[in-house]
This record gives sequence, C-alpha cells and structure tokens, in this order.
Amino acid sequence: MDFLNNIFSSATSFLFSKRGQSVIGVDIGSSAIKIVQIKKKRGRAVLETYGELALGPYAGTEVGRSTNLPKEKLAEALRDILKEAKTTTMQSGIALPLSSSLISFITIPPVEEKQLAEVISLEARKYIPVPMNEIMLDYSIIPQEDSPTDDLDVQSAKSTGKHPQDVLVIAIHNEYINNYQAIATAVGLQPSFYEMELFSSVRAVVDQGIQSVVVIDMGAQATKLYIVERGILRASHIINRGSQDITLAISKALALTVVEAENLKRSFGLSGGPEYKELTEVITVNLDYIFYESNASILNYQKKYKKNVSKIILTGGGVLLKGFTDLAKISFQTEVVYANPFGKLETPAFLAEQFSVAGPEFAVAIGCALRRLSEID
Ligand SMILES: Nc1ncnc2c1ncn2[C@@H]1O[C@H](COP(=O)(O)OP(=O)(O)OP(=O)(O)O)[C@@H](O)[C@H]1O
Ligand SMILES: [Mg+2]
Repeated sequence: MDFLNNIFSSATSFLFSKRGQSVIGVDIGSSAIKIVQIKKKRGRAVLETYGELALGPYAGTEVGRSTNLPKEKLAEALRDILKEAKTTTMQSGIALPLSSSLISFITIPPVEEKQLAEVISLEARKYIPVPMNEIMLDYSIIPQEDSPTDDLDVQSAKSTGKHPQDVLVIAIHNEYINNYQAIATAVGLQPSFYEMELFSSVRAVVDQGIQSVVVIDMGAQATKLYIVERGILRASHIINRGSQDITLAISKALALTVVEAENLKRSFGLSGGPEYKELTEVITVNLDYIFYESNASILNYQKKYKKNVSKIILTGGGVLLKGFTDLAKISFQTEVVYANPFGKLETPAFLAEQFSVAGPEFAVAIGCALRRLSEID
C-alpha cells in the first residue's frame, strides 16, 4: 500500500535481538494508528520499533482526517502497520479513546473496604445515563492526603475511615470493549488490558512530583485535557475541536482542497509570515478557542482545589503545528513544554532528533507499552 510510505506515516525498526520479552502498545486514534514495541534490558525499557499509519485512506478520505471505521477496516489497518513496523510479538496493551468513556468524580460516605465496590456502583448510577449491565465500571480512590484540607478533626476522621472519600469513576460501554476485542482477535494481538488513553498518556509524559500539571492532547477530532496532581488524575475535559478542524477551516477560508489545506497547515503552521496572513489568522482563531476552553478548565480546577498548575505538557499530532508552543505560552501564561515520551525509553542516539519531533504523537502508545512491560517479571 502506497500511503504507508508517504511522509505522513513512518515505521522504523531497529535494535533487534532475541533476548528479553517484547511488548507492544497500541493507540487507535481517530485519524491514525500508532504502535510501539519495546522490551526490557538491564532494567530499562528499550525501543525496538514503532510506526504510525494514517486512517484517512482506509475510509476513502484524506490523511489527517478523523474517521469512524468499522472494526474490520481497523483490523486491516492495524495488521498493515504491525507488518510495516516488523513487530515480533503479540503481547500487548491497547488504549481506548477517551470518547468511549464517561468519567466522573464522586464523593461517597465512609464505608468499610469490602463494601466499597457496591457503594461506588450505587453512587455512580446517579451519574451514568445507561443501564449498569451495559457498562464496565472501574474506579480509583483519590488518596485523602490530596484532599484540600488541613483540619485536624478531619485528619483524625480520615485515619479512622469515617471521612467521605473522593473517587474517580470510569464507565465504558461494553460495546467498545467488544469491538476492540474483535479487532485484537482478528489481528492476532493478545492484549492483557484495555486502558483509557488518558492513563497511558499520563504514564508516558508526567514525571513524579507534587505539583499539578496539565496534559493537553490535541488529536484530529478533539483536544483532551487532563489535570494531574501527584500522578493522580484530578480533572479531565474534552474540547470538541481538533487539528482536523483547522484544516477544514483553512480549506474553506482559502478555497483550497482538504489535501492542500492539510499540507499548508503542516508546512507553515503559524510561521508563514506576512505572505500567509490569512492562514495565520484562521489557525489562530481555532487555537484561541481551544486555549480559551482549556484555560476555563484550569481556572475551575485552581479555584476548587486552591492549587496552581505549574506546567502544560503538549501531546498529540496537532501540537506539532509550527508556532504552537509560542501561542500556547502567551495564552496560558505558564511553562509550556513538548512531551518527550521517548525519553522514558532507551533509544539510539542518532535518532534523537526524530524522537523529539515525533514524541508528542506517540505518548499514548508508549504509555500503553510501558504498562504492559511492567507486567513482566
Ligand atoms: N506537523 C504537523 N503540523 C500540524 N498538524 C499536524 C502535524 N502533524 C500532524 N498534525 C495533525 O495532527 C492530527 C493527528 O494527531 P493525532 O495522531 O494525535 O490524532 P488522533 O490520535 O488520530 O486523533 P484523536 O486523538 O482526536 O482521536 C491530524 O489532524 C494532523 O493534521
Ligand atoms: Mg489520539
């Protein structure tokens, strides 16, 4: 297939050796599939191969467009990229799109450990508008030292288990899991888990630390925002505007085909200068909207928990746009950095440049692979 080799997709394979068990992380995005194969060597995660494949052509549309492919087509695309990247294992973990889930933060009354699941399930019903037998429910207790209080009475109540608990609840419709299982089976992959993409991203790009950071994932279809404190998710938000919307807006404003608009977006971004004034304007208007919405989420968090965010970490293909960080820095008035998930892996030095550019796009796939690797030994 031609488009496997065009500039929009890449597959790089190297560093093969027979020793050590390899694992794959899979990210099926709306516009592209990303895969990463790693293995453990002397306690370090070593990159073996990785690749990306645009889904547009499988849906009869352009590269960079978001798609809504049936599972048979997704399986075909996944098979193609695994082959192209020359992966050598079926052991894997697969990320689920944030849009497949419903995330809520709930507070439950103090209960005994063994009653937790039941109480959470009962409480979650109030927030989840579908029958409980149609969803898979997952939860995680937010550690109490993270609650915004220093009150001594409350502290003592906490230690005796008499204090309300904050819980992060995630509901995923069974249909999504079934679909992903069917895709994995068709391709022969053996995933040991399906994980919400936000957890993969956070694992891959957030370092230990007590400060609150924001991860922004600008994909083709949407921009996702996660606020993380001490490694724990405290808020998440989907903004229904992604990089594809910028392409479509350019196409409309400058009367270009979608392919021409996509190329212009990727070639110049915000760095086109006076000659590309209109291009710059269209992109800026779209990004301003996304930044405005992001800032609203951040302010909301800061007000609720009385904490400042110290850093914004950029992930997803959309942030690769030239000039993105400069505009983001002005809008957020805080430190803004590109995610460097390849930094968590041992990689060949001569490809450092390539990894620093591709980094933001591979956060989800790398995070998934890292979790799968941690399951070995
Ligand atoms: N160099 C670049 N400059 C500007 N935009 C880019 C660049 N490279 C990729 N993009 C855009 O990034 C988007 C793809 O990003 P990504 O692969 O993260 O999306 P996805 O995971 O498929 O989407 P989603 O997460 O919304 O489902 C496309 O819309 C593409 O046009
Ligand atoms: Mg994505």
